[in-house]
Amino acid sequence: MPKSRVSRPRRYLVCEPRHFDVRYAINPWMSADIPVDTALAGRQWEALMSAYRDHGHTVETVAPVATLPDMVFAANSALVVGGRVFGSSFHAPQRRPESVEYETWFKAAGYDVYRPESPCEGEGDLIPAGRYILAGTGFRTTPAAHREVQEFFGVPTIGLQLVDPYFYHLDTALFVLEETAETGEAHVAYYPGAFSTGSREVLRRLFPEAVLATRDDALAFGLNSVSDGRHVFVAPQATGLIDQLSAHGYVPVPVDLSEFHKAGGGIKCCTQEIR
Ligand code: ARG
Repeated sequence: MPKSRVSRPRRYLVCEPRHFDVRYAINPWMSADIPVDTALAGRQWEALMSAYRDHGHTVETVAPVATLPDMVFAANSALVVGGRVFGSSFHAPQRRPESVEYETWFKAAGYDVYRPESPCEGEGDLIPAGRYILAGTGFRTTPAAHREVQEFFGVPTIGLQLVDPYFYHLDTALFVLEETAETGEAHVAYYPGAFSTGSREVLRRLFPEAVLATRDDALAFGLNSVSDGRHVFVAPQATGLIDQLSAHGYVPVPVDLSEFHKAGGGIKCCTQEIR
């Protein structure tokens, strides 16, 4: 019998995909030649919001901006832990104005926002996992930003080197299934091939019990999932991973965001957690 998992209600910040599109290419998934079905994207996104609400989570929205087609990827806006907001500083010039929009939202909601000096793309590359913050680098967020994160939160921040351009953000290659506050342990899932040899060894040492995903499931955005500790909002295309999650006692909740895959994003990219 797999272990029974317990969910914890979460608070998510999201951005409606009214202006979602692929108008430039800043990762290998994107091509301005492939049309985006905005209406379908809207329906897929609404299904994700319904799934969150149906499972007891709170969803808050930031207003979309017509000139910012990637703004729907709320996870890149910040890392929020204990009500403290570490803002973003985008690598690509096309996305830089998004930081201001999100900062305005956070300030109106009563938060101070720290502005990183170095390129840093929020939860896309920064993932709290038990007693650590895991921090991806190689394509977007820089090691200098990792040092700022550690200094800001006072939490040991573990740099992980991403090596495959299809997995340009840490949250395309790894996600946290469950954290145990008392022990500081985290149960994670990841795709080893997205990481350098050394970083793979670091992950093996930190998370010997991790769920290891295949390249196919990672390419299906299976690791760009959101877990509440019990339910895992996951791409239905990641069939192998879904079976693994069930075997570990989690409850997969498949939500198809295929239109967003055209921009290199999935469920987690659309979801900023406010901790
Ligand atoms: N088109 C966006 C970019 O390349 C996708 C961002 C996906 N977000 C994420 N958290 N992985 O920046």
